[in-house]
Amino acid sequence: MNRNILKDPYGRHIDYLRLSVTDRCDLRCSYCMPKGFKDYREPWEWLRFDEVARVVAAFVDLGVSRVRLTGGEPLVRRHLPDLAGRLSAIRGLDDLSLSSNCTRMAAMADDLKQAGVQRLNVSLDTLDPDVFAEITGGRLHKVLDGIEAARQAGLDPIRINTVVTKGVNDQAIDRLLDYCAARGFALRLIETMPMGETGRDALDRFVDLQAVKRQLEQHYELVPDVLPGGGPARYYRLAGTDTRIGFITPLSQHFCETCNRVRLTVDGTLHMCLGHEHAYPLRERLRQGISDDALRNCLREALALKPERHEFRENPEKVVRFMSMTGG
Ligand code: GTP
Ligand code: 5AD
Ligand code: SF4
Repeated sequence: MNRNILKDPYGRHIDYLRLSVTDRCDLRCSYCMPKGFKDYREPWEWLRFDEVARVVAAFVDLGVSRVRLTGGEPLVRRHLPDLAGRLSAIRGLDDLSLSSNCTRMAAMADDLKQAGVQRLNVSLDTLDPDVFAEITGGRLHKVLDGIEAARQAGLDPIRINTVVTKGVNDQAIDRLLDYCAARGFALRLIETMPMGETGRDALDRFVDLQAVKRQLEQHYELVPDVLPGGGPARYYRLAGTDTRIGFITPLSQHFCETCNRVRLTVDGTLHMCLGHEHAYPLRERLRQGISDDALRNCLREALALKPERHEFRENPEKVVRFMSMTGG
C-alpha cells in the first residue's frame, strides 16, 4: 500500500505514469506520425531498463501506483517482458498496463502476462482490412490474431481504442461495437488531437463525439457506468447488455481538471502534459549518478511545471511533438 500522495500545483493527485519505451512504431497512423518520418532517438539515448526501473521506483515512492507501457509501439522495444517483470516487482505498483497496436502480440502475449502485465488497451480503428491498410499501412489480420492471443493469455480487461475520423471510420462504429460485445471488450472512441505536423489537418477531419453519442442513443439506451482504470474515458453500458462504450473527448469536453498523469519518454524526458512543451530531462542526471533523494526531488521539481490544461482548441498549432514521440 502506498501512503504518499503526489500533487501538482493545481492540487491534482498524480498517481499514473505513462512510460513510452520506444518512439518507433511498425504502423503509420496518419494522425499519429508524419509520413516518411525517420528522426528517431538513437539507441544511446534510450533509457536502459535499469534506468527506467529506477525512475519508476522513485515515482512509486512518491505515490504513483499505476504505470502504462506505451510507445510508439511498445512491443517494438526488444525484451519488453524483461522490463515488465522488473516493474511489476516494484512494491506499491498496483496496476501495470499496456497500450499496443497488437501487430506483434501473438508471439509475446504469454511472456507479457507472465511478467505481470495485467491489462491491455488496443489501437484499432476499423475492421475493414482495406480501410485498416489505408489508415495504418499495416495488415489487419495480424492485429486480430494478436488480440486473440492476448485474450487467451489472460490479459484482462481488453479495451479497444478507436480514433474517430470523418469519412474514414465514423460510419462503421456499430461493427466495432458488435466485435467488442462478442468478446467482452470495452470500445472507447477517441477525438483526434492536433499534435505536431500530424495535427495540421486533424481538425478538418475532426469528429465531435458528442454527436456520435447522440446518434448511438437513437439505437441504444446508454446507462452511465464506471470502469476501473486511470484514464479519461467516460463510460456507458448498453442497457440490457454487458457491453461498455467509452468516450475520450479531449476537444469537445476536455478532462484536464481531473488529470492524474505524467509521461516519461524513451530518451528519459518527463513531459508534464500532452498539449504543452514543458519538459524535464532526467537521462543525464541518471547517468551522472544522481542519488535516490535527489532523483525524488527532481520528480517533484518536474511536477511543479505541470500546466493546468491543454489548448488544442484555442491554439492547435502549439504542440510540435506528435503523438508517437510522447506516447499515445
Ligand atoms: P485506462 O483508463 O487505465 O484504461 O487508460 P488510458 O485511457 O489512460 O490509456 P490509453 O493509453 O488507452 O489512452 C487512450 C487515449 O486517451 C490515448 O491514446 C489518448 O488519445 C488519450 N489520452 C490519454 N491520456 C491523455 C491525456 O493526458 N490527455 C489527453 N488530452 N488525452 C489523453
Ligand atoms: N489524437 C488522439 N489520439 C491519438 N493517438 C495517436 N495520435 C492521436 C491523436 N492525434 C492515440 C490513439 C492510438 C494511440 C497509440 O495513440 O489512441 O490508439
Ligand atoms: Fe492532463 Fe494535459 Fe492531458 Fe489535459 S491535456 S488531461 S492537462 S496531460
